[in-house]
Amino acid sequence: MTAPPSQQAVQQGQAVYSKKILNIYDWLVLRISNPFIWRCRTAHIKRLYEQNLSVRHLDVGVGTGYFLDKCSFPVSYPELVLLDMNLNCLEETSQRVMRYHPVSHQINILEPLNVKEQPFQSIAVNYLLHCLPGSIATKSVVFDHLLPYLAKDGVIFGSTLLNKGGAHNFFSRRLMSFYNDKGIFHNTEDSLEELEAALAKRFKRYELKVYGVGVLFKAWNPIALPPK
Ligand SMILES: C[S@@+](CC[C@H](N)C(=O)[O-])C[C@H]1O[C@@H](n2cnc3c(N)ncnc32)[C@H](O)[C@@H]1O
Repeated sequence: MTAPPSQQAVQQGQAVYSKKILNIYDWLVLRISNPFIWRCRTAHIKRLYEQNLSVRHLDVGVGTGYFLDKCSFPVSYPELVLLDMNLNCLEETSQRVMRYHPVSHQINILEPLNVKEQPFQSIAVNYLLHCLPGSIATKSVVFDHLLPYLAKDGVIFGSTLLNKGGAHNFFSRRLMSFYNDKGIFHNTEDSLEELEAALAKRFKRYELKVYGVGVLFKAWNPIALPPK
């Protein structure tokens, strides 16, 4: 059995998102790192959101709420629930998408959930997995925690950055190893094969698409719902 991730590592994966960092996050990550370092363009992720956002959406690991703000929901007044361990992210995002009157919960997604709003037609876990400590096999517990909250015909989608399997170059390797040294990323062991195995174990249908060192995924038709 793999040992559970240390609390320190879990804390580190979200602690970087101070108000100051959130002020530059969209520029630094979405405008600079995504196209030029990770080569996983923000436009690809935006399209993934556009295609999968639903009337009842749960967003996990919300950051600045950029995609929730910029992408269209299929209705004017979707039900929107935000989950994050970091209060700054929850505050920033709920301000930004105030027009949807979101409900926020401060939670560690590596622990079992207790959220009364459910089920959700869409659940996003965007750029979350590479922040979580552990191997893909262990951090995929996130899917087990979320599956009971997914509607029968719902979809889980998102993207993550890989250390193994993506098309790395000098700059992406350097920046990824810097972020791992700082504890901001925890993805030294993350590979495409393991992500695919984690989805295949839980869903009858899934899709993965690699761009640079990023992978976009969506999964639906769960194999069996784990007990809550
Ligand atoms: C890289 S940001 C992604 C932000 C946003 N989804 C996006 O794609 O722009 C990672 C987010 O995951 C949150 N996070 C990190 N570890 C977490 C945990 N254990 N439980 C819940 N949220 C976590 C961070 O606070 C942050 O909001």
